[in-house]
Amino acid sequence: KTYRIAAIAGDGIGKEVLPEGLRVLEQAARKWDLNLSIEVLEWANCDYYLEHGQMMPDDWFEQLKGFDAIYFGAVGWPDKVPDHISLWGSLLKFRRDFDQYVNIRPVRLFPGVPCPLAGREAGDIDFVVIRENTEGEYSSVGGKMFEGTEHEFVLQESVFTRRGVDRILKFAFDLAQTRPRKQLTSATKSNGISISMPYWDERTERMAEQYPEVSWDKQHIDILCARFVLQPDRFDVVVASNLFGDILSDLGPACAGTIGIAPSANLDPERRFPSLFEPVHGSAPDIYGRNIANPIAMIWSGALMLDFLGNGDERYRAAHDGILRAIERVIAEGPITPDLGGQGSTQDVGAAIVSAL
Ligand code: NAI
Ligand code: MG
Repeated sequence: KTYRIAAIAGDGIGKEVLPEGLRVLEQAARKWDLNLSIEVLEWANCDYYLEHGQMMPDDWFEQLKGFDAIYFGAVGWPDKVPDHISLWGSLLKFRRDFDQYVNIRPVRLFPGVPCPLAGREAGDIDFVVIRENTEGEYSSVGGKMFEGTEHEFVLQESVFTRRGVDRILKFAFDLAQTRPRKQLTSATKSNGISISMPYWDERTERMAEQYPEVSWDKQHIDILCARFVLQPDRFDVVVASNLFGDILSDLGPACAGTIGIAPSANLDPERRFPSLFEPVHGSAPDIYGRNIANPIAMIWSGALMLDFLGNGDERYRAAHDGILRAIERVIAEGPITPDLGGQGSTQDVGAAIVSAL
């Protein structure tokens, strides 16, 4: 099978890091004999918006739905287009309309990356945050009442469906089952949020019964955040609702050094629609055009994409592992970009990873 990948650069440093990601994918395809067909699309960016009054063509869904994956840089240029227009007009449409209900963010401390947590070394931090990406606290149910009076109030509901909760828990337990430590932590707050979070806990307990090999616990989100900082070595798979997962998935990479290397995957595990792979970072207008953006987050996201596309095929798994080893080697031996304390350019790092492969 040939996997079809739509590559979309977006804005700012998305345009600088995507080419490096593509070079690495092409090299990996040669080395591991992968069948990739990559098509670069020139929309879903703010310049397109300024020309057309919308971020994407009307038939974007039709154009993209036949692809197996979207390899996405970053979108947003707040000086030209307000963020709620650019992000909701592109990236958030992909996540919602393609039902990418799993958001995965691996957190790993590489040798040579300065860790903000005292006394931590490479190997101490290696876990993955699984965030529910479609419902929970981020539902637009609610409104403003008695506006302008002294009784004015706003109300916003959370929605936890059994289908939505069970499918994210199942994904997380399945993943924990395949990892050496087979450990899962569920983020909750059932001591304060008295209806939805006890329900989340109840479904977690129910799901856990089907995974006797996985050892699991639940932790309230407040202490869980503290432990990310104080004891990051104790985590393996962490599963969380939309809001809690959003917070944890920025806190995690921050604990492991720089945002310039953090990757993410937005998955439709049933593969009805393309899944989307992107760096955690945005378009970084403050450094755009200087050729110093770290391309590693983009490149690591590409490795996640190959692993997902291969769906167990060992060539694709080997390509993922090989790219990670190459990243690890280049971080340790250089060149590295200024965010990691080096002087290398975006292309220097991309080229070094290609030759390490
Ligand atoms: P940002 O992630 O673009 O930048 C935050 C800081 O990290 C900046 O100082 C930037 O220079 C630095 N940084 C980010 N990526 C880097 C890399 N690869 N190498 C070296 N340094 C890096 O977040 P910010 O500034 O809040 O947002 C800028 C724009 O990006 C906004 O329009 C925002 O809405 C958008 N955005 C888009 C995202 C996406 O497409 N998924 C995610 C986050 C923000
Ligand atoms: Mg966030």
